[in-house]
Amino acid sequence: MDKFVIEGGHRLIGRVPISGSKNAVLPILAASLLCDGPVTLTNVPDLADVRLMLEILDELGVNSRIDAATSTVELEVVDRAPTIASYELVSQMRASFCVLGPLVGRRGEAQVSLPGGCVIGTRPVELHIKGLRAIGCEVEVEHGYVVAKAPGGRVEGGEVFLGGDFGSSVTGTANVLMAAVLARGVTLIEQAAVEPEVNDLCRFLVAMGADIDGIGTPTLRVTGVESLKGGTHRIIADRVEAATFAMAGAVNGSDVTIEDCNTSHLAAVLEKLAETGTRVERLSPSTVRVRGVRRLKSIDFTTLTYPGYPTDCQAQLMSILAIADGISVVTEKIYPDRFMHVAELLRLGAQIKKLGTSAIVQGVEYLSGAPVMASDLRAGAGLVLAALAATGESEIHRIYHIDRGYDRMESKLQSIGAKIQREAVVYRRRRDDRAAA
Ligand code: EPU
Repeated sequence: MDKFVIEGGHRLIGRVPISGSKNAVLPILAASLLCDGPVTLTNVPDLADVRLMLEILDELGVNSRIDAATSTVELEVVDRAPTIASYELVSQMRASFCVLGPLVGRRGEAQVSLPGGCVIGTRPVELHIKGLRAIGCEVEVEHGYVVAKAPGGRVEGGEVFLGGDFGSSVTGTANVLMAAVLARGVTLIEQAAVEPEVNDLCRFLVAMGADIDGIGTPTLRVTGVESLKGGTHRIIADRVEAATFAMAGAVNGSDVTIEDCNTSHLAAVLEKLAETGTRVERLSPSTVRVRGVRRLKSIDFTTLTYPGYPTDCQAQLMSILAIADGISVVTEKIYPDRFMHVAELLRLGAQIKKLGTSAIVQGVEYLSGAPVMASDLRAGAGLVLAALAATGESEIHRIYHIDRGYDRMESKLQSIGAKIQREAVVYRRRRDDRAAA
């Protein structure tokens, strides 16, 4: 297991290229199950989650070749018989539940393990199941697996409303969409998620021959086609990675230019950063310069579905508000329990109180370095930002969470002057373990 050792307080200066989007590439990799010819994906980030998805696809009969030097992945289905995605693999990454839609859509049946909860909340999948039933699939939950069948081997199509208590579902929309593209008839998805990652999936499917109207809107009309061919698709830039580096620009009076991103996908984040007094300058549709000021101003923000402020950037903004002047109120409307980073920020000297689905952040003059632990991917990114801002040395443990979703985070940070090192951790056995040995 590795940890990051970070010496905080240094000014960051330079340009950071943004990699392809984790949350776009994972469902698109799953969508390769639908295609009859070879698929080439470019701008694929080098992530543990991408490698895990390729492992799951391998078990489902998809050959793949990854070329890290060119950020390219080639895939081709060589065996259409397997229909089971096991607990061993699905439990390691929720996004692998996205194989459900393409499996039932192309192979007529699927058995995919229920992903279960995770540290950010319970994360149900009833919208996925409701959606598949509405388009003619028989779906049961048996022995911890979702078992879906398309009567006669082909999905029928139908109408489905995908809104839930917390808005629409991103991967739920992806699953229904992927099950619908090869259907006999037409599918109307109301209250579809409009996140850029869903739109990227739609564009990929259309490029392979799917017929989808309404891309980018909450109403998607999918007319089933007989087959999808292969082809090439470039994955969109990762807006969460871009936001994380933009926030790195806001601390220690730094001056960071984020390149190869889509600034329109970052509108809510850049707006909030600007409200803190940070100087935010869009240099082009794909480039934004962020310059920190001596002391950030406190602000309030609420996480929402796109185009609102993203939950995946909540921990990062909370971290920098920990050293802002005044009180900030952070409210979670997507995952009410996504506050595991609060306890770790307290270890760095932050003053934060959790109150229901909000956290009240009383900004302090400075944070002081300490050992902390990443509980999930974005909490880990938030802790990295806090450690960069803190005085002295911090250690971030369990960075395997960060490796799931950030492409070479430490080398990108080093390139703009951060003092961050990856070190292997050798955990000493506890006293009682030694006694028992
Ligand atoms: N929800 C339901 N019922 C469902 C599905 C979802 O009530 O059947 C609720 C969830 O509990 C949550 C809300 O709807 O309150 C939104 O969840 P959604 O289904 O949209 O989340 P997801 O598709 O499982 C994706 C991202 C997450 C990101 C969320 C929200 C991928 C692979 N994952 O998850 O990314 O937080 O959308 O934007 O796209 C991350 O990258 O760190 C991450 C967690």
